[in-house]
Amino acid sequence: MVNLGISIGNLKFKNPVLTASGTFGNGTEFEDFFDVSRLGGIILKGTTIEPREGNPYPRMAETPSGMLNTVGLQNKGMDYFERNIYPKVSLYKTNVIANINGSYIEDYVALAERFDKLGKIAAIELNISCPNVKMGGMVFGTDPASSRKVIRAVREAYSGTLIVKLSPNVTRIEDFARIAEEEGADAISLINTLLGMSIDIESMKPSLSTITGGLSGPAVKPVALRMVWQCARAVKVPIIGIGGIMNASDAIEFFLAGASAVQVGTASFIDPVSSVRILEGIEKYLEEKKIGDIKEIIGLINSI
Ligand SMILES: Cc1cc2nc3c(=O)[nH]c(=O)nc-3n(C[C@H](O)[C@H](O)[C@H](O)COP(=O)(O)O)c2cc1C
Repeated sequence: MVNLGISIGNLKFKNPVLTASGTFGNGTEFEDFFDVSRLGGIILKGTTIEPREGNPYPRMAETPSGMLNTVGLQNKGMDYFERNIYPKVSLYKTNVIANINGSYIEDYVALAERFDKLGKIAAIELNISCPNVKMGGMVFGTDPASSRKVIRAVREAYSGTLIVKLSPNVTRIEDFARIAEEEGADAISLINTLLGMSIDIESMKPSLSTITGGLSGPAVKPVALRMVWQCARAVKVPIIGIGGIMNASDAIEFFLAGASAVQVGTASFIDPVSSVRILEGIEKYLEEKKIGDIKEIIGLINSI
Protein backbone atom coordinates (compact mmCIF):
# COMPACT_ATOMS: atom_id res chain seq x y z
CA MET A 1 0.00 0.00 0.00
CA VAL A 2 1.30 3.40 -1.00
CA ASN A 3 0.49 6.47 1.08
CA LEU A 4 -0.81 9.14 -1.27
CA GLY A 5 -2.03 11.55 1.41
CA ILE A 6 -0.72 15.11 1.57
CA SER A 7 -1.58 18.23 3.62
CA ILE A 8 -1.93 21.88 2.73
CA GLY A 9 -1.99 24.02 5.85
CA ASN A 10 -4.41 22.21 8.17
CA LEU A 11 -6.26 20.58 5.31
CA LYS A 12 -5.70 16.90 4.56
CA PHE A 13 -6.03 15.43 1.08
CA LYS A 14 -6.46 11.67 0.63
CA ASN A 15 -4.41 11.91 -2.55
CA PRO A 16 -2.68 14.70 -4.50
CA VAL A 17 -4.82 14.68 -7.67
CA LEU A 18 -7.29 17.54 -8.01
CA THR A 19 -9.17 18.93 -10.99
CA ALA A 20 -8.42 22.40 -12.39
CA SER A 21 -11.03 25.14 -12.22
CA GLY A 22 -13.09 25.67 -15.36
CA THR A 23 -12.27 22.26 -16.81
CA PHE A 24 -14.37 20.02 -14.56
CA GLY A 25 -17.60 21.99 -14.20
CA ASN A 26 -18.76 21.50 -10.66
CA GLY A 27 -17.93 17.82 -10.67
CA THR A 28 -21.58 16.89 -11.16
CA GLU A 29 -21.05 16.75 -14.95
CA PHE A 30 -18.54 13.92 -14.44
CA GLU A 31 -20.58 11.72 -12.10
CA ASP A 32 -21.62 9.41 -14.96
CA PHE A 33 -17.98 8.63 -15.70
CA PHE A 34 -16.55 7.92 -12.23
CA ASP A 35 -16.97 8.56 -8.53
CA VAL A 36 -15.50 12.05 -8.27
CA SER A 37 -14.99 11.57 -4.52
CA ARG A 38 -12.04 9.30 -5.40
CA LEU A 39 -10.02 12.41 -6.21
CA GLY A 40 -8.08 14.38 -3.62
CA GLY A 41 -10.21 17.41 -4.39
CA ILE A 42 -12.29 19.27 -6.91
CA ILE A 43 -11.72 22.92 -7.74
CA LEU A 44 -15.07 24.35 -8.74
CA LYS A 45 -15.70 26.47 -11.81
CA GLY A 46 -14.66 30.10 -11.26
CA THR A 47 -17.40 32.00 -9.42
CA THR A 48 -18.13 35.72 -9.36
CA ILE A 49 -20.64 37.59 -7.17
CA GLU A 50 -22.92 38.48 -10.11
CA PRO A 51 -23.76 36.13 -12.99
CA ARG A 52 -21.50 36.55 -16.04
CA GLU A 53 -22.32 35.78 -19.66
CA GLY A 54 -18.66 35.33 -20.56
CA ASN A 55 -17.08 36.53 -23.79
CA PRO A 56 -18.68 36.38 -27.28
CA TYR A 57 -18.18 33.32 -29.51
CA PRO A 58 -15.92 31.97 -30.91
CA ARG A 59 -14.17 31.34 -27.64
CA MET A 60 -12.25 28.13 -28.16
CA ALA A 61 -9.60 27.30 -30.74
CA GLU A 62 -7.43 24.24 -31.14
CA THR A 63 -3.68 24.80 -31.45
CA PRO A 64 -0.79 22.37 -31.90
CA SER A 65 -0.66 20.37 -28.64
CA GLY A 66 -3.05 22.69 -26.90
CA MET A 67 -6.10 24.92 -26.97
CA LEU A 68 -6.90 28.58 -26.65
CA ASN A 69 -9.94 29.73 -24.71
CA THR A 70 -11.60 32.98 -23.93
CA VAL A 71 -14.57 31.77 -21.90
CA GLY A 72 -14.26 34.87 -19.70
CA LEU A 73 -15.46 33.41 -16.40
CA GLN A 74 -18.99 32.57 -17.54
CA ASN A 75 -20.92 31.49 -14.46
CA LYS A 76 -24.31 31.96 -12.83
CA GLY A 77 -23.09 33.93 -9.84
CA MET A 78 -22.93 33.29 -6.11
CA ASP A 79 -26.67 33.28 -5.34
CA TYR A 80 -27.23 30.55 -7.92
CA PHE A 81 -24.26 28.60 -6.59
CA GLU A 82 -25.63 28.68 -3.06
CA ARG A 83 -29.11 27.61 -4.08
CA ASN A 84 -28.46 25.05 -6.79
CA ILE A 85 -24.88 23.79 -6.79
CA TYR A 86 -23.78 23.83 -3.17
CA PRO A 87 -26.42 21.31 -2.01
CA LYS A 88 -24.98 18.78 -4.49
CA VAL A 89 -21.24 19.40 -4.16
CA SER A 90 -21.38 19.54 -0.37
CA LEU A 91 -22.21 15.81 -0.45
CA TYR A 92 -18.89 14.84 -2.04
CA LYS A 93 -16.55 12.90 0.19
CA THR A 94 -13.53 14.88 -0.91
CA ASN A 95 -12.24 18.44 -0.62
CA VAL A 96 -14.45 20.83 -2.54
CA ILE A 97 -12.52 24.02 -3.24
CA ALA A 98 -14.05 27.28 -4.50
CA ASN A 99 -12.28 29.35 -7.18
CA ILE A 100 -13.07 33.02 -6.60
CA ASN A 101 -12.88 35.88 -9.08
CA GLY A 102 -13.76 39.54 -9.22
CA SER A 103 -13.26 42.95 -10.77
CA TYR A 104 -12.58 44.68 -7.46
CA ILE A 105 -10.94 43.63 -4.19
CA GLU A 106 -14.33 43.92 -2.47
CA ASP A 107 -15.73 41.23 -4.79
CA TYR A 108 -13.05 38.75 -3.75
CA VAL A 109 -13.57 39.54 -0.07
CA ALA A 110 -17.35 39.20 -0.30
CA LEU A 111 -17.04 35.85 -2.08
CA ALA A 112 -14.51 34.51 0.42
CA GLU A 113 -16.88 35.42 3.27
CA ARG A 114 -19.86 33.81 1.58
CA PHE A 115 -18.06 30.58 0.73
CA ASP A 116 -16.73 30.45 4.28
CA LYS A 117 -20.24 30.71 5.75
CA LEU A 118 -21.44 27.72 3.73
CA GLY A 119 -19.45 25.41 6.00
CA LYS A 120 -18.39 22.64 3.64
CA ILE A 121 -16.05 24.46 1.28
CA ALA A 122 -12.65 23.02 2.20
CA ALA A 123 -10.52 25.85 0.81
CA ILE A 124 -10.53 28.88 -1.44
CA GLU A 125 -8.42 29.24 -4.56
CA LEU A 126 -7.95 32.92 -5.25
CA ASN A 127 -7.80 33.38 -9.01
CA ILE A 128 -5.80 36.52 -9.73
CA SER A 129 -4.65 35.11 -13.03
CA CYS A 130 -7.54 34.90 -15.51
CA PRO A 131 -6.29 36.40 -18.79
CA ASN A 132 -9.75 36.66 -20.37
CA VAL A 133 -11.47 39.40 -18.42
CA LYS A 134 -11.13 43.16 -18.87
CA MET A 135 -11.09 43.98 -15.17
CA GLY A 136 -9.63 42.00 -12.29
CA GLY A 137 -8.11 38.59 -13.03
CA MET A 138 -4.67 38.88 -14.55
CA VAL A 139 -4.65 42.64 -13.92
CA PHE A 140 -4.24 41.78 -10.24
CA GLY A 141 -1.97 38.82 -10.80
CA THR A 142 0.64 40.50 -12.97
CA ASP A 143 1.18 43.54 -10.76
CA PRO A 144 3.03 42.90 -7.49
CA ALA A 145 1.34 45.71 -5.53
CA SER A 146 -2.17 44.73 -6.65
CA SER A 147 -1.48 41.06 -5.95
CA ARG A 148 -0.39 41.91 -2.45
CA LYS A 149 -3.46 44.05 -1.79
CA VAL A 150 -6.01 41.48 -2.90
CA ILE A 151 -4.31 38.56 -1.13
CA ARG A 152 -4.02 40.62 2.06
CA ALA A 153 -7.70 41.61 1.97
CA VAL A 154 -8.90 38.05 1.41
CA ARG A 155 -6.55 36.70 4.06
CA GLU A 156 -7.99 39.15 6.60
CA ALA A 157 -11.53 38.10 5.76
CA TYR A 158 -11.02 34.35 5.50
CA SER A 159 -9.32 32.11 8.04
CA GLY A 160 -9.63 28.83 6.10
CA THR A 161 -7.12 27.28 3.72
CA LEU A 162 -6.17 29.87 1.12
CA ILE A 163 -4.57 28.92 -2.19
CA VAL A 164 -3.38 31.70 -4.49
CA LYS A 165 -3.40 30.86 -8.20
CA LEU A 166 -0.60 32.57 -10.09
CA SER A 167 -0.41 33.86 -13.63
CA PRO A 168 2.42 32.64 -15.86
CA ASN A 169 2.23 35.91 -17.83
CA VAL A 170 5.01 37.52 -15.81
CA THR A 171 8.79 37.55 -16.06
CA ARG A 172 9.62 36.51 -12.50
CA ILE A 173 6.91 34.22 -11.14
CA GLU A 174 8.87 33.52 -7.97
CA ASP A 175 8.38 37.16 -6.91
CA PHE A 176 4.60 36.59 -6.96
CA ALA A 177 4.98 33.31 -5.06
CA ARG A 178 6.91 35.16 -2.36
CA ILE A 179 4.24 37.86 -2.15
CA ALA A 180 1.54 35.21 -1.71
CA GLU A 181 3.53 33.53 1.02
CA GLU A 182 4.27 36.81 2.80
CA GLU A 183 0.58 37.69 2.76
CA GLY A 184 -0.39 34.42 4.42
CA ALA A 185 -1.36 32.08 1.58
CA ASP A 186 -1.36 28.43 2.68
CA ALA A 187 -0.42 27.23 -0.81
CA ILE A 188 0.27 28.47 -4.31
CA SER A 189 -1.21 26.95 -7.44
CA LEU A 190 0.25 27.50 -10.88
CA ILE A 191 -0.08 27.95 -13.77
CA ASN A 192 -3.19 29.55 -15.14
CA THR A 193 -3.26 29.82 -18.94
CA LEU A 194 -0.55 31.53 -21.00
CA LEU A 195 -1.69 34.44 -23.12
CA GLY A 196 -1.73 33.47 -26.80
CA MET A 197 -3.51 33.94 -30.11
CA SER A 198 -4.16 32.27 -33.44
CA ILE A 199 -5.45 33.46 -36.83
CA ASP A 200 -7.65 31.63 -39.36
CA ILE A 201 -5.93 32.37 -42.66
CA GLU A 202 -9.03 31.48 -44.75
CA SER A 203 -11.26 34.11 -43.13
CA MET A 204 -8.19 36.23 -42.32
CA LYS A 205 -9.62 36.78 -38.86
CA PRO A 206 -8.44 35.95 -35.35
CA SER A 207 -9.71 32.55 -34.17
CA LEU A 208 -11.10 34.03 -30.93
CA SER A 209 -13.60 36.88 -30.51
CA THR A 210 -11.28 38.63 -28.07
CA ILE A 211 -8.27 38.05 -30.39
CA THR A 212 -6.07 36.85 -27.52
CA GLY A 213 -6.93 34.03 -25.13
CA GLY A 214 -5.45 31.55 -22.69
CA LEU A 215 -3.31 28.66 -23.90
CA SER A 216 -3.56 25.35 -22.04
CA GLY A 217 -2.79 21.68 -22.62
CA PRO A 218 0.45 19.78 -23.34
CA ALA A 219 1.99 22.81 -25.09
CA VAL A 220 2.29 24.68 -21.77
CA LYS A 221 3.69 21.83 -19.66
CA PRO A 222 7.42 22.63 -19.91
CA VAL A 223 6.71 26.27 -18.98
CA ALA A 224 4.49 25.22 -16.06
CA LEU A 225 7.06 22.72 -14.82
CA ARG A 226 9.82 25.32 -14.94
CA MET A 227 7.68 27.77 -12.99
CA VAL A 228 6.69 25.19 -10.36
CA TRP A 229 10.36 24.37 -9.88
CA GLN A 230 11.26 28.06 -9.54
CA CYS A 231 8.48 28.70 -7.01
CA ALA A 232 9.25 25.55 -5.01
CA ARG A 233 12.76 26.90 -4.48
CA ALA A 234 11.50 30.37 -3.56
CA VAL A 235 8.84 29.57 -0.93
CA LYS A 236 8.13 27.10 1.87
CA VAL A 237 4.37 26.81 1.39
CA PRO A 238 3.16 23.85 -0.71
CA ILE A 239 2.89 24.24 -4.47
CA ILE A 240 0.07 22.80 -6.56
CA GLY A 241 1.27 22.15 -10.10
CA ILE A 242 -1.04 22.78 -13.07
CA GLY A 243 -0.42 22.89 -16.81
CA GLY A 244 -0.63 20.26 -19.51
CA ILE A 245 -0.81 17.28 -17.16
CA MET A 246 -2.19 14.57 -19.44
CA ASN A 247 -0.96 11.38 -17.78
CA ALA A 248 0.72 10.04 -14.65
CA SER A 249 4.24 10.64 -16.01
CA ASP A 250 3.45 14.33 -16.45
CA ALA A 251 2.13 14.51 -12.89
CA ILE A 252 5.21 12.74 -11.50
CA GLU A 253 7.47 15.32 -13.19
CA PHE A 254 5.61 18.00 -11.27
CA PHE A 255 6.09 16.18 -7.94
CA LEU A 256 9.79 15.75 -8.63
CA ALA A 257 10.03 19.48 -9.43
CA GLY A 258 8.51 20.34 -6.05
CA ALA A 259 4.71 20.20 -6.35
CA SER A 260 2.85 18.66 -3.40
CA ALA A 261 -0.30 18.18 -5.48
CA VAL A 262 -1.41 18.54 -9.10
CA GLN A 263 -4.50 19.72 -10.92
CA VAL A 264 -5.72 18.09 -14.12
CA GLY A 265 -7.24 20.58 -16.59
CA THR A 266 -7.53 20.30 -20.39
CA ALA A 267 -6.96 16.52 -20.16
CA SER A 268 -10.52 16.12 -18.82
CA PHE A 269 -11.89 17.55 -22.10
CA ILE A 270 -10.08 14.85 -24.08
CA ASP A 271 -10.86 12.00 -21.71
CA PRO A 272 -13.28 12.66 -18.84
CA VAL A 273 -11.66 9.98 -16.69
CA SER A 274 -8.12 11.38 -17.09
CA SER A 275 -7.87 12.57 -13.50
CA VAL A 276 -8.62 9.19 -11.97
CA ARG A 277 -6.36 7.41 -14.49
CA ILE A 278 -3.57 9.79 -13.50
CA LEU A 279 -4.20 8.95 -9.84
CA GLU A 280 -3.99 5.21 -10.56
CA GLY A 281 -0.83 5.73 -12.63
CA ILE A 282 0.91 7.62 -9.82
CA GLU A 283 0.12 4.80 -7.39
CA LYS A 284 1.45 2.19 -9.83
CA TYR A 285 4.65 4.17 -10.40
CA LEU A 286 5.33 4.43 -6.68
CA GLU A 287 4.64 0.72 -6.19
CA GLU A 288 7.00 -0.20 -9.02
CA LYS A 289 9.71 2.04 -7.57
CA LYS A 290 9.02 0.60 -4.09
CA ILE A 291 8.37 4.07 -2.71
CA GLY A 292 5.90 3.92 0.18
CA ASP A 293 4.88 7.57 0.35
CA ILE A 294 4.25 10.22 -2.32
CA LYS A 295 5.93 12.79 -0.06
CA GLU A 296 9.27 11.04 -0.66
CA ILE A 297 9.39 12.25 -4.25
CA ILE A 298 8.18 15.83 -3.73
CA GLY A 299 10.99 18.16 -4.79
CA LEU A 300 13.41 15.27 -5.19
CA ILE A 301 15.31 16.91 -8.05
CA ASN A 302 16.16 19.81 -5.77
CA SER A 303 18.16 17.62 -3.43
CA ILE A 304 20.31 16.12 -6.17
C1 LIG B 1 -12.03 26.35 -20.74
C2 LIG B 1 -11.20 26.74 -19.57
C3 LIG B 1 -11.77 27.45 -18.51
C4 LIG B 1 -11.00 27.82 -17.40
N1 LIG B 1 -11.58 28.50 -16.36
C5 LIG B 1 -10.86 28.80 -15.26
C6 LIG B 1 -11.47 29.42 -14.13
O1 LIG B 1 -12.68 29.67 -14.10
N2 LIG B 1 -10.68 29.73 -13.07
C7 LIG B 1 -9.33 29.45 -13.05
O2 LIG B 1 -8.64 29.74 -12.06
N3 LIG B 1 -8.73 28.84 -14.11
C8 LIG B 1 -9.46 28.51 -15.20
N4 LIG B 1 -8.86 27.86 -16.25
C9 LIG B 1 -7.42 27.52 -16.17
C10 LIG B 1 -7.19 26.07 -15.72
O3 LIG B 1 -7.72 25.86 -14.42
C11 LIG B 1 -5.69 25.70 -15.74
O4 LIG B 1 -5.00 26.57 -14.86
C12 LIG B 1 -5.08 25.83 -17.14
O5 LIG B 1 -5.97 25.36 -18.12
C13 LIG B 1 -3.76 25.06 -17.27
O6 LIG B 1 -3.93 23.68 -17.03
P1 LIG B 1 -4.15 22.59 -18.22
O7 LIG B 1 -3.07 22.83 -19.23
O8 LIG B 1 -4.04 21.26 -17.54
O9 LIG B 1 -5.52 22.83 -18.77
C14 LIG B 1 -9.61 27.48 -17.36
C15 LIG B 1 -9.04 26.77 -18.42
C16 LIG B 1 -9.80 26.38 -19.51
C17 LIG B 1 -9.15 25.59 -20.62
